[in-house]
Amino acid sequence: MQRLAGSTVLVTGASSGIGRALSEMLIEQGASVLGVTRRPAALPAGVAPIEADLTKREEVQEVFHRLGRIDALVNCAGIAYLSRIIDGNAADWEEMWRVNVFALTLCCQMALRHFPREGGRIVNVSSMSGHRVPPTGGFYAPTKFAVRAVTDALRLELKAAGLPIQVACVSPGFVDTPLLDQYFRGREDVLRKTKESMTMLTPQDVACAILTVLDAPAHVEIGDILLRSTDQRM
Ligand SMILES: NC(=O)c1ccc[n+]([C@@H]2O[C@H](COP(=O)([O-])OP(=O)(O)OC[C@H]3O[C@@H](n4cnc5c(N)ncnc54)[C@H](OP(=O)(O)O)[C@@H]3O)[C@@H](O)[C@H]2O)c1
Repeated sequence: MQRLAGSTVLVTGASSGIGRALSEMLIEQGASVLGVTRRPAALPAGVAPIEADLTKREEVQEVFHRLGRIDALVNCAGIAYLSRIIDGNAADWEEMWRVNVFALTLCCQMALRHFPREGGRIVNVSSMSGHRVPPTGGFYAPTKFAVRAVTDALRLELKAAGLPIQVACVSPGFVDTPLLDQYFRGREDVLRKTKESMTMLTPQDVACAILTVLDAPAHVEIGDILLRSTDQRM
């Protein structure tokens, strides 16, 4: 992990779950971490706080107005409501769309002018739900498919523009984080049985995959890493 020491990484969702674990590991590796959150007090020690509500476009833009040089952006922030297409709450869809897709895309665009001339890296956290639609997943899976499409579109645009910035997705299956409590709200028995039936990925497992992308040699382009617990069927 030699390339990470001395680098500066902007991490959204640094207060919890995958983003929090990643921030802690980056700091251990000698990187500086700027953490975007609505709850600065929840950030791990050593992370420089940037307070923003990613549902609000102006607040996303404001994150970057105050920013200097960064070497990498990792878009971890995300929300998951179990909200079906046939009868789900449109406000839930809108919030998921704003955080999981719109803010992520705007962060990608805004970050570009903060990378050094030699290049930079962007990692977007999608999901196994961005590769196949779970039968009860409702509008969450469409937002995660969109993350992959945004990442691919951005990669093609950057190559066409001759910009040395690499973009990757990391797509985990079930990870034991607070996001699952939100996703299974009202179906706590299903979550309990799911946890009893499998050893889920830990946030650290996913953070390791993200570190692999961030630390790859400059000529190595990783497009997407899919990872799931060996106990997870699909
Ligand atoms: N857990 C899983 O099973 C799983 C599986 C596949 C993919 N993922 C994806 O992995 C990513 C991280 O999820 P996680 O499991 O680590 O979730 P988590 O523990 O619930 O953390 C979610 C993070 O997103 C931030 N966030 C949410 N809404 C925000 C908003 N409006 N403004 C600013 N920040 C906001 C939260 O920050 P604050 O609340 O502090 O603002 C928090 O740091 C997400 O994109 C998720 O879709 C998770």
